[in-house]
Amino acid sequence: MEGRFVLDDRPIPYRAGDTVAVAILRAGEHPAQGGTVCLAGDCGNCVAEVDGVAYVRTCQTPARPGLVVQRHPAVGQPPLRGAGRAGLTNPSPRLRVERADVDVVVIGGGDSGTRAAAEAGAAGRVVELIDAGDGSEAVAIYAGPTVIVRTPQGMRHLTCREVVVAAGAAELQAVCPGNDLKGLMTVRAAIQLHAAGVDLGVAVAIGEPPNEVPCTPLSGRLLRIEGTERVSGVVTRDGEGGDERATPCDTVILGLGYAARDPLARMAADLPVSLVGGAAKAFRLPPAPTAGTICHCSGVTVKDVEDLWERGFRDLELVKRASL
Ligand code: FES
Repeated sequence: MEGRFVLDDRPIPYRAGDTVAVAILRAGEHPAQGGTVCLAGDCGNCVAEVDGVAYVRTCQTPARPGLVVQRHPAVGQPPLRGAGRAGLTNPSPRLRVERADVDVVVIGGGDSGTRAAAEAGAAGRVVELIDAGDGSEAVAIYAGPTVIVRTPQGMRHLTCREVVVAAGAAELQAVCPGNDLKGLMTVRAAIQLHAAGVDLGVAVAIGEPPNEVPCTPLSGRLLRIEGTERVSGVVTRDGEGGDERATPCDTVILGLGYAARDPLARMAADLPVSLVGGAAKAFRLPPAPTAGTICHCSGVTVKDVEDLWERGFRDLELVKRASL
C-alpha cells in the first residue's frame, strides 16, 4: 500500500512497510535536526510531534494515511498539549491507564524474548510479552515489580512476579565534533534505508562496514564529521601519530560496535529482573568522548556534562536531569 501523510503542512509519500522516518528520509528531509540516525529507537534523533503528541520516535511509527507530523522547533521545546493550563494548546482527552496482573512480563519480542515467553508459558505461568515493534514500549520498571508501558491508546501498568528484559543490543553512536550533521547513521540504519530505496549518495563506513550497502570502508580512528547542516566529509587518523585524512562523502556509516539495552534492568536493580540475549552481554565500552553532542533531542554536549561534573554533579541521574 502506498499513501501520503503530512509533514509540517506538506505531503510526504510513503511505501508499504515504511516507518514515518524512512518516508521522510526518502523524501530528502529529516524528521529532526540531524545527527546520528539509528532507526532502531535508540538515538532519539527522529523525535517529532505525531498527531499532537510530542517526542514520538518516528522510526518506530508506521506510516499511515492522514498522519500529521510536525517537526519540533530547532530551538526550545515543542508545545505541550494539555487541558486548561496557561500556555498549553489543543486540549487532549485524559490519558487512559489500563492495569493488569500477570506472572511474568517479557520486554522484547526478538528471538530471546520470544523464547523466554514460551518457556514461562510452558511452565504454566501467565506471560505478557511487550514489543516496541507492536507499538508498546516499556518505559520503566518500578517497585512491585510494576512495568510501565506506553501504547498508542495510553498507558499500561503491569504488576508481576518477575520481569525478563530481552531488549537486545543497541549500536554505538559516534560522539565527536560534527555528529549532529545530517547524513550520519548506523550500519543497521544504512541497511534499512538502502533496502527501502533511499539514496545515500557517496557513502563511507567507519568500523565494520555493511556488506549490503555500497560504501567505501575507511581505516583509522574517527576524529570529526565535516559539513554545514549536512555531512560533506569525514576526517580520520591512522594510529596515534598519523596524519589526519579528509574524505569527502554524503553519508557516514558507523559500525562501531554494540551496547546492551539494559537501562530498564539497571533502573530495577533490587527487583526480580533478569536479562537474556543481547541485553545480557558485556560489550566493551568505547573510549570516553572529548567533544560532540551526546543527546541530540535535547542538544546536550560533552562540554555540558563536563561543566556539570565541575559543578559537583556526580550522580548519573542528577547529571541527566540537570543537563536537560
Ligand atoms: S531513535 Fe529513531 S532514528 Fe534513532
